[in-house]
Amino acid sequence: AEAEAAPQDLAGLKVVVSAGPTREYLDPVRFISNPSSGKMGFAVAEEARTRGAEVVLVTGPVNLPDLSGVQTVRIETALEMQAAIMEAAGDADMVVMTAAIADYRAAAPKSEKEAKTPGDVTIHLTPNPDILAGLGAEQAAHPGRVLVGFAMETHAGVERAALKAQRKNADFILLNYPTREGTAFGGDDNQVTLVRADGTHADWPRISKREVARRLLDEARQIRERR
Ligand code: CTP
Ligand code: CA
Repeated sequence: AEAEAAPQDLAGLKVVVSAGPTREYLDPVRFISNPSSGKMGFAVAEEARTRGAEVVLVTGPVNLPDLSGVQTVRIETALEMQAAIMEAAGDADMVVMTAAIADYRAAAPKSEKEAKTPGDVTIHLTPNPDILAGLGAEQAAHPGRVLVGFAMETHAGVERAALKAQRKNADFILLNYPTREGTAFGGDDNQVTLVRADGTHADWPRISKREVARRLLDEARQIRERR
């Protein structure tokens, strides 16, 4: 049987998605990173394309192939991700930040690999820019643009996610927890709570990342239509 045609409800819209981890190099062969698989962001990009959007996907290093019909920009560091997102987001209608961006980078990365020395070492880290907060800060110039974030919390999730949505001026944040089997990092399913800046929230059931993408884009499209 032929698959049912997807609604083209995002036709004419530009959607920018970030995915995966970043790598913050300490020297040419060592970096700080995290286990983000990129699956959530790739699912959002694929779903948005299927529904007719023009899609730019900015991704850190992941084991996922390019999606046909999606402009994929592969980067490594948070600073590279920032540059690529800011370039793509200027005329975007929606920006969905699923990327697990490292909060810090080495203040002075070594240009050569150095031999270890006896005893402890201290690494001086400096904060990376907050890309979502940067987009949120320029919303006055982009009144129609919908901003969506993700957050993984181990405790006080709804409160912390609502504060993040406020601080970053995001329309909503999808909150998840690192402990649920088969979800979040690396899994094919996700169990998230939609959290708005005003603290209102809704628990979604455990569903595939593609289904999370579908619901996320439904919510973002409704917000967009009210603008
Ligand atoms: N984010 C971002 N730039 C950063 C860090 C995070 O754009 N430098 C985005 C993430 O992609 C995500 C959202 O902000 O959509 C929330 O990420 P999170 O790490 O939970 O937020 P932080 O402000 O870094 O808070 P925390 O101190 O809890 O890590
Ligand atoms: Ca963080």
